[in-house]
Amino acid sequence: MKLSDDLLQGNTELMAVLGSAIAKRDSDTNSHNYRVTIYAIRLAEALKLNPFDIHRLIAGAFLHDVGKIGISDNILLKPDKLTAEEFAIMRTHVLLGVEIIAHSAWLMGAREVVEYHHEKYDGSGYLQGLKGDEIPFNARIFAVVDVFDALTSRRPYKAPMEFNDAMAILHRDRGRHFDPIVVDAFNVIARDLHQTRV
Ligand SMILES: [Fe+2]
Repeated sequence: MKLSDDLLQGNTELMAVLGSAIAKRDSDTNSHNYRVTIYAIRLAEALKLNPFDIHRLIAGAFLHDVGKIGISDNILLKPDKLTAEEFAIMRTHVLLGVEIIAHSAWLMGAREVVEYHHEKYDGSGYLQGLKGDEIPFNARIFAVVDVFDALTSRRPYKAPMEFNDAMAILHRDRGRHFDPIVVDAFNVIARDLHQTRV
């Protein structure tokens, strides 16, 4: 993947600083940010996205959860399941993220992923409950790699899931959580990506 000239070093550094700021609070998410960015680029290339959209996807992948900076530790770091009230607060990380990136025109390229990465293809996601093509394509691409990496990663509360089990979940939720076109494209490249996982 070749970044074009408008992906200036200063902006890239700004993105990395913001992305790693949230990673300092949320356990092990810095390597998650890098992995989902690599996965998203490879998936976007498989889907023949144009470079302009891929640039926005890169920023979005890196910054998707930047709004978690505004979520209190007792919710963000809670080892148990969140209560309904706590989950309602957790969901606001999407809007907090948009408010943070709104301070930079360049970072606003990340907006469609930051704002819509928890929407689901069947309309059951948040915050807006958008459905199908109403969800920006970059957000639909990102949702697949974000869930895949969460499943196959070790977290303080769980062991990493086996590759085949993670893929079975993506297929089960194809057309429900995920855009079928995106799952099908990911299916072709996923094993290779997982084997070279860092
Ligand atoms: Fe998120």
